[in-house]
Amino acid sequence: MSPDAEDPSGFTTLSDLEESAKAKVIDAAWAYVQGGSGEERTLRANREAFQRVFLRPRALVGVGTVDSSTTLLGTRVPVPFYIAPTAFHGLLHPDAEAATARAAGARGVLGVYSAVSTLSMEEIAEAAPQAPRWFQLYLQKVWATSERLIRRAEAAGYGAIVLTVDAPVLGQRDRQARLGFGLPPGMPVGNLEEVTPSAGASVPQAVHQALRTDSDATWETLRKVRETTRLPVVVKGLLTGEDAARAVELGAQGVVVSNHGGRQLDGAPPALWALPEVVRAVGSKAEVYMDSGVRRGSDVLAALALGARAVGLGRPVLWALACGGEAGVGKLLDLLRTELETSMRIAGRRSLREVDASMLFAPPSSANVP
Ligand code: FNR
Ligand code: LAC
Repeated sequence: MSPDAEDPSGFTTLSDLEESAKAKVIDAAWAYVQGGSGEERTLRANREAFQRVFLRPRALVGVGTVDSSTTLLGTRVPVPFYIAPTAFHGLLHPDAEAATARAAGARGVLGVYSAVSTLSMEEIAEAAPQAPRWFQLYLQKVWATSERLIRRAEAAGYGAIVLTVDAPVLGQRDRQARLGFGLPPGMPVGNLEEVTPSAGASVPQAVHQALRTDSDATWETLRKVRETTRLPVVVKGLLTGEDAARAVELGAQGVVVSNHGGRQLDGAPPALWALPEVVRAVGSKAEVYMDSGVRRGSDVLAALALGARAVGLGRPVLWALACGGEAGVGKLLDLLRTELETSMRIAGRRSLREVDASMLFAPPSSANVP
């Protein structure tokens, strides 16, 4: 059954949501949301990586109540997952990021909002004033523009700056290019009133016009961001221990292990596989999050067992928006929480403190088969 536009009650898994969303979103916009870069090897590998992790359950530990809450840079949240920053929620639902923010806010779930949102960061904050929220920054060609965005985020009550560093240029998005999707006329870039994407610009063109990312940025720029703001800085889009260690040395309080949902370097490793290396390099000096391919409560557990403190959801939020706006995103968050807590119970883990490497099942090999 395909859920009604504002009644997303008809889905039981995130995959159902994906299917329903596909039927609602025009093909070219769907290509923008779903697509990866190049041959989409990394996009596929993100899912395959989760399918190769197996968990060691513990029996009879008393799981009548479980606690899936944690803290993210000191803010208490009910679940170890959050809304990853994605561009232009207005492509999926007229309420755009306001719908996302209300659904997340009503549940105390952290929302990270893109520099290239449809609504401005102030409008997003107004939609859910009490909700925990972080602002994702793309470094602008002109430093003063980045600085202005940071100041606005501080003033609007954002709790951290998430600096995305894996998109000095956009990846080779063949799926999008083939369908030549144009942004609907008048689609605003909420944070940058001065940017009006030319009508009919393809999403990559519009994103390029809006992002004006600084391809020349170096680690020096991270230092500058750190020195500019009193907010904690999180660096998103790292896949190696050496980059993560560098980011932390320069003052990042968090890093996101991510390949941008397979949209940037095709051939980059699945984020889940890169996670242990980053966790080792960072130790207890910063919080480590991951995104790219999380679709199940058991995926959340796998990532946490491999050392993540929390995981981000990219495309599933966009599917939920397309299927039912605020109600859709709410249902998605509730569903994932239920799945996570069910998995915790059956795995015999009462709180996230008990979710660690002891949960990872080593596959049989010639070394451990008798
Ligand atoms: C993204 N992502 C992204 N990241 C970011 O830092 N700023 C952005 O504006 C966007 N925009 C964006 C648009 C769309 C349509 C997608 C699908 C993704 C990447 C996002 O934050 C996250 O890394 C991935 O989406 C995670 O992978 P999954 O959950 O989509 O598999
Ligand atoms: C994308 C950019 C906007 O992935 O991050 O489309």
